[in-house]
Amino acid sequence: MDTGMKGILLAGGSGTRLHPMTLATSKQLLPVYDKPMIYYPLSTLMLAGIRDIMIISTPDDLPQFRRLLGDGSRYGVRFSYRAQPSPDGIAQAFLIAEDWLDGAPCALALGDNLIFADHLSTLMQQAATRDSGATVFAYQVRDPERYGVVSFDAEGRASALVEKPANPASPWAVTGLYFYDARVSTFAREIRPSARGELEITDLNRIYLEEGSLQVEKLGRGCAWLDAGVPDALLQAGMFVQTIQSRQGMLVGSPAEVAFRMGFIDAGQLRVIAGEIPKTELGRVLRDIADGAQ
Ligand code: TTP
Repeated sequence: MDTGMKGILLAGGSGTRLHPMTLATSKQLLPVYDKPMIYYPLSTLMLAGIRDIMIISTPDDLPQFRRLLGDGSRYGVRFSYRAQPSPDGIAQAFLIAEDWLDGAPCALALGDNLIFADHLSTLMQQAATRDSGATVFAYQVRDPERYGVVSFDAEGRASALVEKPANPASPWAVTGLYFYDARVSTFAREIRPSARGELEITDLNRIYLEEGSLQVEKLGRGCAWLDAGVPDALLQAGMFVQTIQSRQGMLVGSPAEVAFRMGFIDAGQLRVIAGEIPKTELGRVLRDIADGAQ
C-alpha cells in the first residue's frame, strides 16, 4: 500500500541529557539493543505504509545517517536528507521540509521515540488514511511534566494541551508520533517561538485541537512507549527489545522485516540485506523470514 502520505524522521537536537555519549555522535545512532535507535521510529513510519521519508538532523550528524540508511532503495522506499542548522524546535521540521512536502499530508516521528504495540500497523494505517485533521497518540506516564500533556473532558474528548506543565492536569503524555493533513506547513508558519525559543509541536497540535480536528488515540496497557533520551530509558528500551526478541524469536524495529511484510521488497531483496550482516542473530532471523520460516 502507499497512502500518498510523506514522513519525516526528526533526528537532530543536542542530546544534552545523554552527555558524554552524545558528544561525538548523534543520540539517534546510539544502540537500542541490536539496532541503531533510528531503526525503531523508521520501522513505525514504514508500518504506516509511508514510502517517502525525509530524515532531518544536525549538519554534523546528517552524513552518518546517509551512510547508515542510503537512498532507501534497499527497503523499497525513498529517503531524502536535510539539515536543521540549530535545534529551534520540533515544529520547525515542517518549515524545513515545506517544499519537499509540496502540500502532501505528513507523519512526523521523533528519532528517539519508540512505540511497541501488537496492533501498531493497524493503528498507523488508520491514522495515515484519515482525510483531514491530525492524529496524535497519548500514553499514561508517571512523569507527565516532562512532556506535552493532553487532558480530556467528561465525554473523553481532548480538551487542552499544555507543554511541560508544572502541575499536569492529566497523566496523559503526547507521544512523538504525529499525523497531519495537507495544511501542516501552513499552520506551522503561524507558530511563534516559545519562551524557551522553540517552535513547539504542542502549539501546532493546539491549532488542530482548537478547530476540533485533533484526534487523540490513547495507547493502553498493552503498549510500550519509550523516550530514549535519558540513560535509564535508553537501557530500558534495549532490555525491552532484547526480552521480546530472545523470548519470542521475533524482531522489533527492523525496517528490513517491515519492508518485506509490507510488500515493499521481495524475499530475494531481504536475503541480500540479511547477507550484509552474516555474523549476527538479526541477520539469521531476517534470513529465516525471507525463507518463509517465520
Ligand atoms: P528533545 O529530547 O526534547 O531534545 P534533545 O534531543 O535536544 O535532547 P536534550 O533535551 O537531552 O538536549 O528532542 C526530542 C526529539 O526531537 C529528539 O529526537 C531530537 C529532536 N529534535 C530535533 O531534531 N530538533 C529540534 O529542534 C528539537 C527541539 C528536537
